[in-house]
Amino acid sequence: MAQIMAARGYADVVLCDIVDGLPQGKALDIAEGAPWVGFSSKITGTNDWADTAGSDVVVVTSGVPRKPGMTREDLLGTNAGIVRSVIGNAVKASPNAVFVIFANPMDAMCHVALEAAGVPVARVVGQGGMLDSGRYRTFISMETGASVRDVAAWVLGGHTEATMVPIVSNASVGGVPLTSLLPADRLEAVVNRTKRGGAEIVDLLKTGSAFNAPAAATIEMVDAILLDEKRILPCCTLLQGQWGIKDAYVGAPVTLGAGGVEAIHEIPLSDSELAGMREAGTAVLELVAATPK
Ligand code: LAC
Repeated sequence: MAQIMAARGYADVVLCDIVDGLPQGKALDIAEGAPWVGFSSKITGTNDWADTAGSDVVVVTSGVPRKPGMTREDLLGTNAGIVRSVIGNAVKASPNAVFVIFANPMDAMCHVALEAAGVPVARVVGQGGMLDSGRYRTFISMETGASVRDVAAWVLGGHTEATMVPIVSNASVGGVPLTSLLPADRLEAVVNRTKRGGAEIVDLLKTGSAFNAPAAATIEMVDAILLDEKRILPCCTLLQGQWGIKDAYVGAPVTLGAGGVEAIHEIPLSDSELAGMREAGTAVLELVAATPK
């Protein structure tokens, strides 16, 4: 994320971590690439939250990743404690920031972060649907042979295998409905591969989870916030009645701008998609109830 962000060239980047030397080393390594990549933004590494003061956006990636055989939900207790302490420090240094949460289980971590941050709900948004939609679009491109650039398809719902909702009803390639491009069995295979997208990488890497696609997906959100682009993107936000879901962080199409989540768009869904969204809402609230305080 830091590398992609720095290369955009319009914002300074601060990497903060508890491990002495790690953020400093990573930042220096990225900075030393700047003469060849060609950017002038500053990138620094630190163990001191004071160095992050006045940030416009704080991306929280802290927490442990999965190992093979683990679900994102298995990380609940460990990562809740980490996210609480990170958010507490981050909000002290940057009380006006928008907080982008990407520690797993992400949807539940948004609830933890919102409570710890004590900022308006629009300023705590989760990244999951962006990554999952990137995977969905990639698999649709692989299956149809069409350029990924023309694939318009979104994953809403939760960022867990059980609660992800790849939306078929409005997915298209260059305006052609996906349902007319792929037979039902291939479509189902794409949807299932999308849901297992994170696990597929974990199984291949064996020692950790994905880096590149999550980074690209997250920085697209950071761009939208920093540049006040008013993009409509699939992000995890606190639903307040949309689709009949209340007070639960669930992935939905939102307008993302300088204020964070500026609108939530309650689009029409098929019956099974709607049921999936509601299950995601129920599941995240169950996880929140099970989160150690
Ligand atoms: C993934 C993890 C990082 O989906 O949530 O790859």
